[in-house]
Amino acid sequence: MKGLILSGGKGTRLYPLTYTSAKQLIPVANKPVLFRVIESIRDAGISEIGIVVGDTAEEVRDAVGRGGRWGVNITYIQQDAPLGLAHAVKISSNFLDNDRFVMFLGDNVIEGGISQLISEFAHSDWNSQIVLTRVDHPERYGVAELDDDGKINRLVEKPKNPQSDLALVGIYMFDASVLEAVHAIKPSWRGELEITDAIQWLVDHGNSVHPYIHRGWWIDTGEPGQMLEANDLVLEELDYQIEGYVDRDSKVGRRVTVEQGAEIINSVVRGPAIIGQDTRVVNSYIGPFTSIYHHVTIEDSEIEHSVVLEYSHIKGIGARIQDSLIGRYVSIERSPIKPKSHKMTIGDHSQVGIL
Ligand code: G1P
Repeated sequence: MKGLILSGGKGTRLYPLTYTSAKQLIPVANKPVLFRVIESIRDAGISEIGIVVGDTAEEVRDAVGRGGRWGVNITYIQQDAPLGLAHAVKISSNFLDNDRFVMFLGDNVIEGGISQLISEFAHSDWNSQIVLTRVDHPERYGVAELDDDGKINRLVEKPKNPQSDLALVGIYMFDASVLEAVHAIKPSWRGELEITDAIQWLVDHGNSVHPYIHRGWWIDTGEPGQMLEANDLVLEELDYQIEGYVDRDSKVGRRVTVEQGAEIINSVVRGPAIIGQDTRVVNSYIGPFTSIYHHVTIEDSEIEHSVVLEYSHIKGIGARIQDSLIGRYVSIERSPIKPKSHKMTIGDHSQVGIL
């Protein structure tokens, strides 16, 4: 089997973080979501992985490389415009070469592995397997309607009046029959070739599409709130280890990872939390569900339930920072310059909540 990861898109709902960076490269518990996706495909025993890239191709290539670090072989497939998931399959047909494959959206995070699912599909004679899960807002997703025997009746992309709360999770398994489907379907109202329509085509043409209902958590990390939620959930699954330095005046909880070269000085860190490589935490409090990425400095400040990306500085902030997603090279400091006021240089689409 092969793996196909979709890593295009503009990530507009994550502006300003994604002005300069691919959304799939934003870390959750200090590891880019895309790396987690590669690892879960690798863990299922797949070593040939294609990544469909768009505008952020260069950045994705720089971060991922040829896959040697994971023991896999990566092929990049350029998608010139975001014309849909089924379009991504269409342009990948050379790479897929009629093999069975798993397609995984590069911004999805799912509980547990997918090895079991993939091996079930690999040993089956199904033409496709889709993953479904119950959601509160089915109108935001592709939705599957099943009959009384649990077979697929109908699939609808973003239905206005959903007849089911079973959403299509961004993990799909196919054999070569999907290539015929993606050539047969027409673009949807949003101008995209929908994978949901391609699967409907498979059903309509007598192919076997097996629905698997996933019962753990699943997050599509398209928005800041979802990013923080994914961070909470993955932090709870981590194996914790202290590889950096913790001084005697600090208190570090049991469910805390301190990565190599990190320093915790006269501070309290309550888990679950992760402190990245070469990050310094001085006279500060890091509360639960916080991921601080590499080369960050937190001094005389308090922060919890937040994600801070690389090379940022937070200094002398009296009020606790909470529920925040802080980008790269950000500086948040107490301003000594009069008059006493909030002084900001903030990028487009930033959101600031002030006491
Ligand atoms: C896509 C699919 C949709 C699926 C969702 C999962 O939606 O079209 O069927 O439920 O991914 O994340 P999009 O992210 O393109 O809106």
